[in-house]
Amino acid sequence: MTTSPLLVTGGTGTLGKLLVPLLRDAGCDVRVLSRHSHEPTDGVEYVACDLLKGEGIAAAVDGAETVVHLAGGAKGDDEATRNLMEAAARAGVRHVVYISVIGADRLPLGYFRAKLGAEQAVAASGVPYTTLRAAQFHDLVLNVARTMAKLPVVPIPGGLRFQPVDARDVAARLCELTLAEPAGLVPDLAGPRVYGMAELLRGYLDARGKHRLTLPVRMPGKAGRAYRAAENLTLEGATQGTRTWEDFLKERVTA
Ligand SMILES: NC(=O)c1ccc[n+]([C@@H]2O[C@H](COP(=O)([O-])OP(=O)(O)OC[C@H]3O[C@@H](n4cnc5c(N)ncnc54)[C@H](OP(=O)(O)O)[C@@H]3O)[C@@H](O)[C@H]2O)c1
Repeated sequence: MTTSPLLVTGGTGTLGKLLVPLLRDAGCDVRVLSRHSHEPTDGVEYVACDLLKGEGIAAAVDGAETVVHLAGGAKGDDEATRNLMEAAARAGVRHVVYISVIGADRLPLGYFRAKLGAEQAVAASGVPYTTLRAAQFHDLVLNVARTMAKLPVVPIPGGLRFQPVDARDVAARLCELTLAEPAGLVPDLAGPRVYGMAELLRGYLDARGKHRLTLPVRMPGKAGRAYRAAENLTLEGATQGTRTWEDFLKERVTA
C-alpha cells in the first residue's frame, strides 16, 4: 500500500491498461501520464505531458515516490527517458521501474538502441531502479501477423525466432516488482515457448481458417545476422510467462 500517488507513464497503452488495475487492486493511488487529457476514473488521475517535449514533467512526478515508466514509441525512448529521469531525480523519487526489451544490448536496430539508451539513463540517474526486459508481446505479434496475412504471398525471413509473452504476464510481474524494493536489472521475462516466424504466422492463419502461400527470404545485414544468432532471445535464465501464443489466439482470434 502506498500513501503517495504512484506515477505510471504509458498507463494508457497496451501494457499500462493491464497494469493500472493491478496496482489499484494492490491499494495504490495511481497517476497516469499521457500526452492527452483524460477525466479521472476509478481512483486514477491523469496528467498531460509529452515526455519528448519535456513540459509538465516536474508537475507529473511531484509527490510520487514510485514511477513506473512504460511510455514508449518507435523512436526517442532514450531522450524521453532522460527527460523523465532528470525530473524524477530532482523530485526525490525513491524507485523507478522501467520496462525494456530483450536484446536491447545486442540488436543493431534503432528501437533496441533507444531502449538501451533509456536503460542507461535510468541506471545513471541516481534514482534506485528496477529494469525488466521483456520479449515481444502477443499483441504486437498479432498486429504483425494480421499485416502479413493481407499479402497474397507472405515472405518469411528464415532463421528468425521469437519467444512472445502475454502482456498480462508482463503486467503481473511489473506489479510485483513495483511493490518490492528496487532490484536493478532483473531476469528477463519471455514467453513459455520459442517459435519460428512461419509457426507464429501459421498459428494465426489456422485460427482465422485462412491459407496463404509463404516465401522463404533472408533478412539482410547486421540485423539479420543478429536475429539468426538468436540475439533477441533469452534461452537460459529467463522468467517465463504462463500463456502461450496458442492460448492468446484462442481468446483473441478464434473466439
Ligand atoms: N509491445 C511489445 O512487444 C514490447 C516488448 C517489450 C517491451 N515493450 C515496452 O513496453 C512499453 C509499453 O509498450 P506497449 O506495447 O504497451 O505500448 P503502446 O500500447 O504503444 O503504448 C504506448 C504508451 O506510451 C505513451 N507514450 C508514447 N509516447 C509518449 C510521449 N512522448 N510522452 C508520453 N507518453 C508517451 C502512450 O500514451 P498516450 O498515447 O496516452 O500519450 C501510450 O500509453 C514500451 O516502453 C515498449 O517499448 C514493448
